[in-house]
Amino acid sequence: MRTPYIAGNWKMHKTIGEAEALAGQLRSAVANTAHTVMVAPPFTALQAVGAVLKGSNIKLGAQNMAAEEAGAHTGEISVLMLKDLGVEAVILGHSERRHTYGENNALINAKVKLAIQHGLTAILCVGETLEEREAGRVNAVVEEQLELGLDGVSEGQLGQVVIAYEPVWAIGTGKTATPEDADAVHQIIRSRLAGLYSQAAADAMVIQYGGSVKPDNASGLMAKPNIDGALVGGASLTVEQFLPIVQYDKG
Ligand code: 13P
Repeated sequence: MRTPYIAGNWKMHKTIGEAEALAGQLRSAVANTAHTVMVAPPFTALQAVGAVLKGSNIKLGAQNMAAEEAGAHTGEISVLMLKDLGVEAVILGHSERRHTYGENNALINAKVKLAIQHGLTAILCVGETLEEREAGRVNAVVEEQLELGLDGVSEGQLGQVVIAYEPVWAIGTGKTATPEDADAVHQIIRSRLAGLYSQAAADAMVIQYGGSVKPDNASGLMAKPNIDGALVGGASLTVEQFLPIVQYDKG
């Protein structure tokens, strides 16, 4: 039985004060949920949000990290620095990193392995662009991102991996994949995991959906058998929007 995992990716939003205020509201609001909840504030607010969330049932996440532990990498943040701040999970290979900042599968794979090595949960994002979808390449793209992203990751390490399926055309656009379309891709991901590892490993894997998840579509998505949670962008920025997603109605 997979525990639903709802994560809020705050992206490049919230000053320290704003982040503390939102974390404080969330802390009490989700105190009784049985779902796994995580928020990923910007790096500058990690320490402050970590302090607010200490002792709560909300995990502290980061939105990215470097592929090396230390060195001459101007502007980068190391896994050691994230650990230092109490970060438990890190979003890797987000489509904005892939498409705006040119991250490729090899770089993302190095980050995934480093995060695992240091005891973090790696949330590996995969997803096709609209062009790739229209060319009928959804499965090929997603399977390649999955295989290359997990290269060298052992079955024993999969407990530290969450997959997030985020179709690029649905991110921040208000266009959500239908629950049926999303579930079909989640099923493909799970089958590929079974091929790469084992059916048991595939059955245990949490696969989140991300892309315009809102309070009014969360329940429909989460009702699907292969959708185990959500990676939420815009709607994670207020407690009014994020709370109903965390507490989605199972129907
Ligand atoms: P939106 O929910 O704003 O579409 O963003 C999704 C996302 O990219 C989460 O990582």
